This record gives sequence, C-alpha cells and structure tokens, in this order.
Amino acid sequence: MLEEEYNPRRQLPPQLRPAPPEEPAFSFEVRPATTRDIPDMLEIYNHYVANSTVTFDEDALTLREMRQKFRHVVDELHFPWLVAVSPTGMILGYTFVTPWKQKAAYRFTVEDSIYLSPAATGKGIGKALLGRMLDDAAEAGVKEVISVIADRGADASIQMHKSFGFTEVGRMGKVGFKFGRWLGTVLLQKSLKKPKKPKP
Ligand SMILES: CC(C)(COP(=O)(O)OP(=O)(O)OC[C@H]1O[C@@H](n2cnc3c(N)ncnc32)[C@H](O)[C@@H]1OP(=O)(O)O)[C@@H](O)C(=O)NCCC(=O)NCCS
Repeated sequence: MLEEEYNPRRQLPPQLRPAPPEEPAFSFEVRPATTRDIPDMLEIYNHYVANSTVTFDEDALTLREMRQKFRHVVDELHFPWLVAVSPTGMILGYTFVTPWKQKAAYRFTVEDSIYLSPAATGKGIGKALLGRMLDDAAEAGVKEVISVIADRGADASIQMHKSFGFTEVGRMGKVGFKFGRWLGTVLLQKSLKKPKKPKP
C-alpha cells in the first residue's frame, strides 16, 4: 500500500486555505442592434409569445415580419433599437420604440418594447437597456414614451418603468384574451427631456 493511503489527506485550517477563485463579474454591453441580431431577438420574443401574457401576440413572429419591423424602425424612422450583448457575443435582450399611432400629429410619441432572454432577467440589463433607449429616443426627437404593459405577469416591467419616472396614465380592463383568460393593460407615460431640435 502507498503511504498516502494510510494517512488521511491533511487539510489546511480554514484561515490558511487559499481563497476560492472569484466568480467573473457579470458584464454586458449595450449597443445599437444590427440585422445580424434579428434571429436571436426573434427567438427571445417568441419565447414570450408562446409562454407568457406579457405580449398579446399569440402566433410566433416570423423572421420576415421582424426584419420588416426592424427596417421600418431603424432605416426609415431612425428610432433607437438596442441590444444587450454578453462578452461572448450572445444577445441577452433588446429594446426599441415604434410610433404610438400612425396619424401625423402623434409623430413625437412612441411606444417602447423591451424583452430579455429569460436567463438574463433580474441582473440590471433591463435598466441599462431602458436608460440608454430613453436617451437615444430623446436624441432622435421623441417627446413622449408610452408603455403598454399587461396587468398580469409583468410586474417587473411596471416597476422598472416607474423607476425611470414613467407614471400610470390609465388602465384598460379585459382588452386582451390569451390562454383562455381576459387580460387588461396598464398605460404608463414618460415625457423626455427637451430634444435639441424636434424634427419638422
Ligand atoms: C421586464 C424586464 C425587461 C426587466 O429587466 P430586468 O433586467 O429583469 O430588470 P432589472 O434587473 O434591470 O431591474 C429593473 C427593475 O425592475 C424591477 N424588477 C426586476 N425584477 C422584478 C421582479 N421580479 N418583480 C418586481 N420588480 C422587478 C425592479 O424595480 C428593478 O429595479 P431595482 O433593481 O432598482 O429594484 C425583464 O425582466 C424581461 O424581459 N421580462 C420579460 C419580458 C417582459 O416582461 N417585457 C416587458 C413587456 S411590457
């Protein structure tokens, strides 16, 4: 038998043991989205379509539909569309704004959307995305941002928007029906700081 099999392995007392390696700090970057990010964003969104009431869509969005929306928002309207990306390039979440209504006089008012990959929630990414998006939207000439949030299952979104100064401006009851139950919406609004020069 070997000697070490007779002697129990010695262990250093706790104060002398080397410290366990530190967990790498969770980090991510927020940057403008590109067309290459669309498939990942689509996968994130369709997760919530299939599994939650935070969106009232019931059918998965197609790649073509998301591409069309992206082109309209980014290339035609020049509104912000941002992604949060991990150091390895994984898309963790995204946010963008769309016109609140089509009629011309509403042109300074948008509705925001924000979705994170389920594993990326609760780590401050939503706050980072929304904060940057509000700055970029103001820069793009947006005056008012409306958030339409489901009144069930979207507490994180409601709290996060309120923490950025969104105030509740209304509620609509039973305007949606998904997974066999009626759903309402909470409407939140935030005025952005005066943009440098509103677009004509
Ligand atoms: C809503 C969402 C974007 C928030 O992003 P997040 O990264 O998870 O949130 P953060 O960690 O940045 O926290 C932001 C704030 O949200 C609130 N919040 C976060 N998680 C919460 C929870 N589980 N319950 C209640 N409030 C919560 C807190 O006010 C928090 O601020 P604090 O940390 O200063 O207290 C994200 O959770 C998400 O994508 N959820 C699923 C999709 C969705 O609901 N999209 C919005 C549709 S309207």
